[in-house]
Amino acid sequence: MSNLLIEKEERLQIITINRPDKLNALNRETIAELSEAVKTAAADKEVAVIVIRGAGEKAFVAGADIAEFYKYDRDEAKALSQSGHTTLFDLVENTQKPVIAAVNGFALGGGLELAMSCHIRVASTNAKMGLPEVSLGVIPGYGGTQRLAQLAGKGKAFELISTAGMISAAEAKEIGLVNHVVEQDELMDKCKQIAQQMMKNSPTAIAAAIRTINAGYSDKVNGFEKEIEEFADCFLTADFKEGTDAFLSKRKPNFSGE
Ligand code: COA
Repeated sequence: MSNLLIEKEERLQIITINRPDKLNALNRETIAELSEAVKTAAADKEVAVIVIRGAGEKAFVAGADIAEFYKYDRDEAKALSQSGHTTLFDLVENTQKPVIAAVNGFALGGGLELAMSCHIRVASTNAKMGLPEVSLGVIPGYGGTQRLAQLAGKGKAFELISTAGMISAAEAKEIGLVNHVVEQDELMDKCKQIAQQMMKNSPTAIAAAIRTINAGYSDKVNGFEKEIEEFADCFLTADFKEGTDAFLSKRKPNFSGE
């Protein structure tokens, strides 16, 4: 049975994690389904932007499903973390279309890690965020130690992770963890507004920007060198010719995505 609801509104794909009675906790099945849904949206030429949200008004995602992993041994735990990284969290971060997390309530543990792997986070005023894993005797295993430090800085990451504390949406905005905070009933409108702004721009250039920004956080690639390469590659695209021509001709660009 599917744990997701998937809707398309024009060029926006909305993926809703739909286990509200478990506060949308991420079990293996949901992770696999999310992975497929993101891959499908990424491959769909009609889709320009993806939004991920949780069903109900209480939670985005309250974490990895504790009931599923609490009996795991070391090898099982390692496999869970490793496959989670590849199957979902790295996949989302490296999706070549913008992925927006609409954080509509609790985003804890794996839930915050999922939101952090998205390119942008918009939170509702009732959202609460944290990485409470150390309170369970474990550490974040889906990229949270790295991405929280990247977004909010090392000091805040140490504090949030080691206290296992929860912060409000307003505090999350203050430390750079979320981009915007709005009332819950305005959350989707705000995401759509950002998506529409993105849709005016070149999809090829946005994809290049995603690759380049991510490159700076990878220890395998030099971000500055990656920027030079990707910048130069943009000059080969029809979108670049269209964008510059439109600007110089004082007209709106019509990007083909080529
Ligand atoms: N994994 C599995 N089930 C979860 C879950 C998780 N991470 N988070 C919530 N649930 C389930 C609860 O077990 C409960 O199920 P039940 O009704 O069958 O008993 C249901 O979701 C509702 O949660 P509940 O705890 O009753 O809601 P609450 O409003 O009292 O508390 C939270 C909300 C978010 C504070 C609380 O659910 C919580 O602390 N969750 C775990 C957060 C966590 O540690 N996440 C990191 C995991 S690594």
